[in-house]
Amino acid sequence: MKTPIFDFVQKYGNSDFSRFHMPGHKGRDFTGSERFDITEIDGADVLYASDGIIKESEENASSLFCTAKTFYSTEGSSHAIRAMLGAVATHKKGTRALILAARNVHKAFIYACAALDIDVEWIYPQNFTHLCSCIITKADVERAISDCGERKPDAVYITTPDYLGNIADVPDISAVCEHNNILLLADNAHGAYLHFLPDAYATEKGHPIQLGAHICCDSAHKTLPVLTGGAYLHFSENCPTRYIDAAQKMLRIFATTSPSYLVLQSLDRCNGYLAKEFKGKLAKTVKCVLTVKEKIASFGFIVEETEPLKVVVNIKKAGYCAAEFTEKLAEHKIVPEMCDNDYAVFMASTENDERDFERLAEAFASIPLKKPIKDDAQEMNLRHHERKLSIREAVFAPHKTLPVEEAIGKICGAPTVSCPPAVPVVISGEVITEQDAELMKKYNIKSVDVVDL
Ligand SMILES: Cc1ncc(COP(=O)(O)O)c(C=O)c1O
Repeated sequence: MKTPIFDFVQKYGNSDFSRFHMPGHKGRDFTGSERFDITEIDGADVLYASDGIIKESEENASSLFCTAKTFYSTEGSSHAIRAMLGAVATHKKGTRALILAARNVHKAFIYACAALDIDVEWIYPQNFTHLCSCIITKADVERAISDCGERKPDAVYITTPDYLGNIADVPDISAVCEHNNILLLADNAHGAYLHFLPDAYATEKGHPIQLGAHICCDSAHKTLPVLTGGAYLHFSENCPTRYIDAAQKMLRIFATTSPSYLVLQSLDRCNGYLAKEFKGKLAKTVKCVLTVKEKIASFGFIVEETEPLKVVVNIKKAGYCAAEFTEKLAEHKIVPEMCDNDYAVFMASTENDERDFERLAEAFASIPLKKPIKDDAQEMNLRHHERKLSIREAVFAPHKTLPVEEAIGKICGAPTVSCPPAVPVVISGEVITEQDAELMKKYNIKSVDVVDL
């Protein structure tokens, strides 16, 4: 597979042209990557109005992911989420769009809904076990659609995989959407690699586009060897083409006019890799992850069932809090993706080597199990919130910042998150409860922006 952006940037970076164009570093070394950090010069094409090397590269990505259309983002899935929601909102004539969303959304979704003035009704699971996971069934989606009554929702929005590695039942949820003629949108920020898994995984753990989603975003940078910021916005063959056109408009509206060519060439170079050795390397990595999970479980830790590249260990049941466990891991030179007081989350990729996996196993071998920590402070009960303002009204209202304890009874302004995982404890516009305050403390959130009307 050709890599036209990478080739162009490499050639220009290795030439000795005098640069009288942006960026101001002129290709001279400051951090080491300046040579290849260019702007939209002649021949470099224009992101979101492409007819040259970017168009060719996006078409390559589209053929690799078997989509009707794939756009690049150099500003992460966050940008792709804004465009995806904007595309759906565009088709409302004078009324606000309505989206049914599983509650564990990333804050990018909330800000996009605020910017686009989208109404959201939440779909809740039967049991909440953690802020990050919201395992909804076909029946939950059917109920949420029927609860909308006369007002037909424009789309169902799910996060799959979630931060803890749970994969949604995309085939079943997509069947409900199809039956009701509603779009299925997926935040697949954590699952770009899923498309390239060995066939045995494809039916349940495949990529959302393979399994029936109409539109989805992937953060290439999270699970593929792509620089931070690199992401895709994919459209399935089943998605009406008007949404592709609308999304292109939205990408232009929300994007910087100075996209990073370091990121674009990284996405482009990755196409070459995905087309060749990636599948084989991924199959090997999946085996390494399975082996390390088995080892960790053999030491007595509870290892959750997850998507193939995540290792999620229940540290509370092993007797540890986040701070103590992170310290133990650091002693073994391990940096996890996230560690809260419930779980330690490790994200692997094809670029982890044997030594990395050995270290991880060794770390767990040396960490003694302790008495499980009893945590009766929070029964997850995110569903009973009084909503006083729309997301847009709350996000754009004047705010004041209060310590968590003083925010009880006030209306949440900015989505209150700990990052990672950036899943809001309270949604903008909802009244903050005592239980929310407890949960915020658990996530080490000390202050909240509340609406100050
Ligand atoms: C579930 C989920 N969605 C969206 C995002 C935003 O992705 P990006 O950082 O690529 O903008 C994240 C980031 O962590 C995420 O975890």
